[in-house]
Amino acid sequence: MIYLDTAASYPLLPEVKECLIHAFDNTYANSASSHSLGEEVSYEINRVRELLANEIGAYPSEVIFTSGATESNNVAFKSLLLSEKGLEDKKHIVTTQIEHKCIFAITEYLVTLGYEVTYVKPNSDGLITVQSIKEAIRPDTALVSVMHVNNELGSVNPIEEIGQLCFENEILFHSDAAQSFQKVEIDVDDFNVDIMSFSAHKIGGPKGIGAIYIRDLRHRQLAPVIHGAGQEEGLRGGTVAAPLILGFGKAIEVFKSYYSDFSANQIKEKLLEKLSSLDIEFVENGINTLPHCISITFPKVDTETLVRDNENELCLAQGSACSSKEIEPSHVLTAIGLSRELADKTFRISFPINISEQDLDFLCTELLKHSQQT
Ligand SMILES: Cc1ncc(COP(=O)(O)O)c(C=O)c1O
Repeated sequence: MIYLDTAASYPLLPEVKECLIHAFDNTYANSASSHSLGEEVSYEINRVRELLANEIGAYPSEVIFTSGATESNNVAFKSLLLSEKGLEDKKHIVTTQIEHKCIFAITEYLVTLGYEVTYVKPNSDGLITVQSIKEAIRPDTALVSVMHVNNELGSVNPIEEIGQLCFENEILFHSDAAQSFQKVEIDVDDFNVDIMSFSAHKIGGPKGIGAIYIRDLRHRQLAPVIHGAGQEEGLRGGTVAAPLILGFGKAIEVFKSYYSDFSANQIKEKLLEKLSSLDIEFVENGINTLPHCISITFPKVDTETLVRDNENELCLAQGSACSSKEIEPSHVLTAIGLSRELADKTFRISFPINISEQDLDFLCTELLKHSQQT
């Protein structure tokens, strides 16, 4: 099987697997227990907290572990908007048309509580411009939320400039960094972000673990999304998932160096060269994209048959994983102006670290075979 869907989930890295096995065997005590084993677990969790904080230029006290980016996004919107002091009269949210679907589920819920939401359109290159955010903000805007890297295009948004704009206008700024963490440098101060969401399984870590960065967390009195016994600064109840956090920590340690080797291989460029040399018509969607991810429309390829004929050979995404079972075209592709027909003929190809040239050849041969049939 050729796995070309790492933006949906990265295969577990071998170092992480080894770490998880060891952690499940040894790091079983409850980190809230006061005996020596519990304290050891608590120490290990805080070591990973420090590691993550260092990677993004934050303080460890500003990092809370969650079950993943979906939960972090929930905390970002609900905990801050519903309990932050000074926001009582601010009921307007600015986000974008190309966010992960979980953001829309959260904003739809907030609308039922009286919030108004502006969904900013990307430009035709798939980027959210500072100007478009500037035009959307109002005196009653409480929060701006713009994803760092888009999960379907792999495009990197100008977070630093948007952060500056929010800072100047004293508006809270959240960015979903599920797709960018450890692939693009992040510095929460340079970016002027107040809140950022992370997920472990996008970098070869385990599923079910992630984190949220909240600037000056200890000086805020935030209501938790999950009420519990005071874990994670009282913001996220439930026994802390120590083995998963250690696995996340290992992924944070090792993923970056794998990714930089992979970037040097220029696999995306090789794919584009092969497509051109075979005269396969294609259009690349989005600019300023990451090296492992590409969204390509193949107007002459019968993509449906290609996927069906190769269901045991190729794992490819048409639209994002979370919406791939829906019949609707991808909301990201339609937001950048693709027709339904062209959206259906688009693949998001996201490479694993160990992709080979033979894998690319196989993909290109199949694309060629199925373009001749239309
Ligand atoms: C941009 C973005 N945000 C959020 C999520 C959800 O992350 P998780 O699976 O950790 O909840 C994903 C993954 O699908 C994503 O790509």
